[in-house]
Amino acid sequence: MLELPRHVAIIMDGNGRWAKKHKLPRLMGHNAGMNSMKEIVRCASDMGIEQLTVYAFSTENWKRDIEEVSGIFGLLVKFVARDLDELHEKSVRVRVLGDYSAIPDDARESLEKTIKTTGNNTGMQFNIALNYGSRAEILRAVNTIMNERFFDAVSKGYDIEEITEEDISKHLYTGDENGNIPDPDLIIRTSGEERLSNFLLWQSAYSEFAFTDTLWPDFTPNEFEEIIESFGNRERRFGGRK
Ligand code: FPP
Repeated sequence: MLELPRHVAIIMDGNGRWAKKHKLPRLMGHNAGMNSMKEIVRCASDMGIEQLTVYAFSTENWKRDIEEVSGIFGLLVKFVARDLDELHEKSVRVRVLGDYSAIPDDARESLEKTIKTTGNNTGMQFNIALNYGSRAEILRAVNTIMNERFFDAVSKGYDIEEITEEDISKHLYTGDENGNIPDPDLIIRTSGEERLSNFLLWQSAYSEFAFTDTLWPDFTPNEFEEIIESFGNRERRFGGRK
């Protein structure tokens, strides 16, 4: 039987280049990318993958021009309006990683509705990294822990304890707050770029990587399945020996 990764994370890259190739506006590239995302969510859920995480909008993406940024959030609202029922039928549970309080109101409200509607579902968890940046996530974790420790030290007279790896993991967006998300077993990046771009830096310590030249809007469930299959043949040692 095929060994399935528990958690697959995807950097969906190449929407802009896809649009350029087809002489279309950039937003049409993101629209095509949203359709690919939908297909992959469906496929991953049907395969029985437990956790799928996508990098939808990074803290650095605010540097893009306003039409593109608001266009991407508009697509998010469209995705929720169009596909929420199907996600729910498949018992997919949606969670957001990142500080999404800062995104436009309609997009935030759609997400809140989705999280609420799917909150008790028991199928695949679909994590959308939105206004997410990994360094900021780690800093936020350390600052939260430091404040808690300092408060305890002053108010309860405890010594300030050392911070452990577990403490940090627990305070990341992937941490315990709404149930712990296991570290990604496999990270896929499309469009030929081979870097992490501030995505899951802490969580990817032992992840396998798969890079493909395919631009995200051209990425199919078929290619996804092939990558998952080749993952099943890899030997993972987590720093130990065979
Ligand atoms: C990277 O392509 C893609 C993004 C920054 C946005 C990803 C958005 C979607 C897949 C659709 C919207 C879905 C949601 C849930 C918000 P790029 O623009 O960096 O491509 P390029 O490197 O070719 O220019």
